[in-house]
Amino acid sequence: KDLQIAIDGPASAGKSTVAKIIAAKLGYIYCDTGAMYRAVTYKALQDRIDLTDEQAVMQMLSDTKITFIPGEPVQKVFVNNQEITKEIRQPEVTNSVSTIAALQGVRKRLTVDQRKLAENGGIVMDGRDIGSTVLPNAQVKIFLIASVDERAERRYKENIQKGITTDLETLKQEIAVRDQKDSTRKVSPLTKADDAIEVDTTSMNIEQVVAKILEIVAK
Ligand code: C5P
Repeated sequence: KDLQIAIDGPASAGKSTVAKIIAAKLGYIYCDTGAMYRAVTYKALQDRIDLTDEQAVMQMLSDTKITFIPGEPVQKVFVNNQEITKEIRQPEVTNSVSTIAALQGVRKRLTVDQRKLAENGGIVMDGRDIGSTVLPNAQVKIFLIASVDERAERRYKENIQKGITTDLETLKQEIAVRDQKDSTRKVSPLTKADDAIEVDTTSMNIEQVVAKILEIVAK
């Protein structure tokens, strides 16, 4: 009842898809923390800020209102009242977000927001460091993985629906680079929490992954 459910894992492992379904089934809030890092990245790119300049990024953040509205089918994202829900999925944002996510100040800020959202439980939160850092006391921690080939293929199919036609090999490269950056950064890198349960989704469909996680939640 009113649990905190943390779902972490590398890029394109299916976290957001299953997290959304599980939240809907349990009547919980769904929180996509990647969207928060993406929103900051989008704004920094728009303002042409050097993404490695922590001071400049923090200055921008303090002057910017970023709003998340949890909801169906997607969590809506706004910067200074402009909706950027779609824009944060653009390839330019995807390929720059790991740089922003490595900034300690940004992580600190977003972690505070994420903990606030989760304080009353009843939430499924997906990201990279939820089980390890943001919600270390979450009752359920899942670490979703899949082979890089499988993940690239999933991303490819998703992209086609959005009219993006990046080839499979490039996607594979991009996913590998992002995972590498996310796992090697100094501040709360992508890691499986000691008490997280690893679920390899390589040869599972969405329904099977959802069933598996609900089984873990029920225990
Ligand atoms: O989940 P998604 O692929 O949208 O996340 C985008 C990026 O945001 C990740 O590649 C990572 O750099 C960053 N991120 C993070 N910590 C989280 C969630 C996302 O560093 N909890």
